[in-house]
Amino acid sequence: MRYNPGMAASSLQFTPLGTYIGARVDGIDLSEQIDDDSAAMLEKALADHLVLVFPKQSLSEEDQIRFAGTFGDVSQHLRPDALRNKGVPAANPAVMMVTNERKDGKPVGYLPDGEIFYHTDSCFMETPQRAVCLYGMAVPETGGDTIFASACRMYETLPADLKTRLTGRNALNSFEFGISVKTVEKFDRDKAVSHSHPAIGIDPRDGRRFLYMNELMTEEIDGLSEAENRETLKAVFAHIRTSPDHYRHKWRIGDLVLWDNRRAQHARTDFPPDQPRKLRRVPVADDKPVKMAPA
Ligand code: SIN
Repeated sequence: MRYNPGMAASSLQFTPLGTYIGARVDGIDLSEQIDDDSAAMLEKALADHLVLVFPKQSLSEEDQIRFAGTFGDVSQHLRPDALRNKGVPAANPAVMMVTNERKDGKPVGYLPDGEIFYHTDSCFMETPQRAVCLYGMAVPETGGDTIFASACRMYETLPADLKTRLTGRNALNSFEFGISVKTVEKFDRDKAVSHSHPAIGIDPRDGRRFLYMNELMTEEIDGLSEAENRETLKAVFAHIRTSPDHYRHKWRIGDLVLWDNRRAQHARTDFPPDQPRKLRRVPVADDKPVKMAPA
């Protein structure tokens, strides 16, 4: 591995933000090149805590993209051209602005308003993104918090009958870009992008299992009847919603939040539409699909 001279790993400090998820990271300036020892410590901390919060950063787009590249190949904003905002200057393909900013009444970014149900990004693709980072550029005074929940704990606390029913099965994830709250049982399959993944994943790095189903995008579990599907999805979504093992992030300008996008789910609380909110998003790719946990 090439040695990157930069900030000393010894200055890094990790403070847990909850028992099972989240750690605050101090002692690092992400606008500088990260040395290999620090990169290895951050990689381990991400695996342990699933969400890392770096407060008080001052990052250009290039800084954020370079930082994301510490954890793998930088991925791209997945939305098809036809569904992108018209008349907005093209951003770097890795960057998506999550913002309620509007020009002539039209959003200049994506996911502008309101609540978002629990989900993992890109789980409707064959190889979902392994990590994602958001950088706070404008934040509302009230609401608009991002809630992260441990999908490992969701699995571990799942009732035994659900564990048995889901282990070894695939579930279909489907998504219509732009929707953030699910009001229908299933998205329009002609408009949605869909892919099946194991309902219970296992991380080959540490053998930890995680629930890979979410309320916004998971629609069908393979091999179950319609009635069993309905009943099982209802029970799983109720379990996710009431997961006590979460970390709720109240945004401040300059926060960089990085999360494991397979083993942590995230949701957003509602916020007043007239309060500006702007987060810059950069994803990290994975070249492997989610691995199924054995029975
Ligand atoms: C997202 O769900 O990717 C956006 C989260 C947020 O706006 O807080």
